[in-house]
Amino acid sequence: MNHVLRKPEVSTFYSLDELHEMSMAEGLSLFKEYINPQLGRMYHLLGLADRKPVKAQGLIIDMSDGSQVLDMTAGLAVLNVGHNHPRILAARKQWAEQQQLEIWKFIPSPYQAGLAHNLSKLMPAGLNKVFFCNSGAEANEGALKLAQKYVGMDRPIVVYTDISFHGKSHATLSVSGSEREGNKHFKQMSDCIEVPYGNADAFEQVVQSHKKTFGKTRVGTFIVEAIRSEGLVKPPEGYFDKIQAVCRKHDIVLILDEVFCGFGRTGKMFAFEHQNVVPDIVSFSKAFGAGKASFGGFVSQDRLFQKAYGKLKHATLHSTTYNGFGEEIVTAIESINIIRDERLVEKSEQLGAYLLAELLALKTKHAGILADVRGAGLLVNIELKNLASSIAKKFPLPIPDEVISKVTTGGVITELYEKHNILVYTPLHNHNLIMVSPSLTISKAQIDQFVQAIDDVLSTNLIEKGLTYLKRVLG
Ligand SMILES: Cc1ncc(COP(=O)(O)O)c(C=O)c1O
Repeated sequence: MNHVLRKPEVSTFYSLDELHEMSMAEGLSLFKEYINPQLGRMYHLLGLADRKPVKAQGLIIDMSDGSQVLDMTAGLAVLNVGHNHPRILAARKQWAEQQQLEIWKFIPSPYQAGLAHNLSKLMPAGLNKVFFCNSGAEANEGALKLAQKYVGMDRPIVVYTDISFHGKSHATLSVSGSEREGNKHFKQMSDCIEVPYGNADAFEQVVQSHKKTFGKTRVGTFIVEAIRSEGLVKPPEGYFDKIQAVCRKHDIVLILDEVFCGFGRTGKMFAFEHQNVVPDIVSFSKAFGAGKASFGGFVSQDRLFQKAYGKLKHATLHSTTYNGFGEEIVTAIESINIIRDERLVEKSEQLGAYLLAELLALKTKHAGILADVRGAGLLVNIELKNLASSIAKKFPLPIPDEVISKVTTGGVITELYEKHNILVYTPLHNHNLIMVSPSLTISKAQIDQFVQAIDDVLSTNLIEKGLTYLKRVLG
């Protein structure tokens, strides 16, 4: 094939000033043309592409038309300290003004070391070796590799749970039970075995049934969330005691994924603190970078790290260019310090309990539509009943199931945004859920505002709302 390299049409390149001035309509059309047409369409359908955010502070996003949106997403549990926290801005500004070294790759960074020290002080004793990277998937990928290196190549089996999401890289997708669609289309890593979430006996059975000669199990790793963030599923009492006992008996590496639940989200600094468990590796990301830095990593038990990467020739066996960060490090140091100084973990616990109680009161009032409300700290899942069949009855044309199953939630999200200026979201794998994960800096008044709005939306005719949304979807 003959490739003709197009000359860059520099005269048509956008300047930053032009992008600051660009309308949302133009931006959406560019997004569809150059990024992802169907994702662009989804923004449009949900009514999220009409107003342009011009400023964000705390939980409030100022929009181009003068309206103010209450952000109940925290950017998918990223902004635990709120949008543009002044201390985060100041730390980054100081770093930039000092013209500090950007990449600490070839010179050891005291800043990185200090952050690693602070993180390890938040962990149970022994967890004191930290690896930094850019995302949750990379954090889990690194954790899985460390576990594999520690247990050795004769114990390759990784056990994961049926309801789980650990990322979209090849390895993490292979251990993400909730990602059914993704797993249909991509090759799986071999030796990954699924067990039901919360069932420790099923885990033990897998461990026992994969023994090789001399009785040693081929299971080397178990990866799990202490609270399943999407859907807010808590394991039964005693689950982690048993998991931990089995892991210790067979020297299986226990990885706890705190990417979503970490840094105060569930009313504890880490969700595993709700349980009586000491993990071998803890992965984290999201809130760590306070929305300013695409940042993550893992903390591991010293003994694991030393055995896996303790030789000089293995010192960079697992590494990336960008674990030589500068500005990301000062951001994360402040992110954790703000959570501690402003007592955001306690706030998450107390205000989360208040939010949950208010929403549970609505459950009785809206029994026809609210299936359940579940929460831990400031992570709340509102489960809607599926009104699809009632909506389908009112719609004259046959509609694909996957479209109809999303319309009730789509209707609620759109109504909350367009009528009440409140931003919520539905997760990747269960479209009957509305997820609420506001910044931990939220006020009681903002919780009241949200609860009143959702009460109002649920009081409207949701079959009609779903129908309106469906008409939008079908054009
Ligand atoms: C529990 C959990 N683990 C891992 C990930 C993957 O993180 P990332 O999207 O940064 O790769 C996510 C993302 O939502 C998550 O919720």
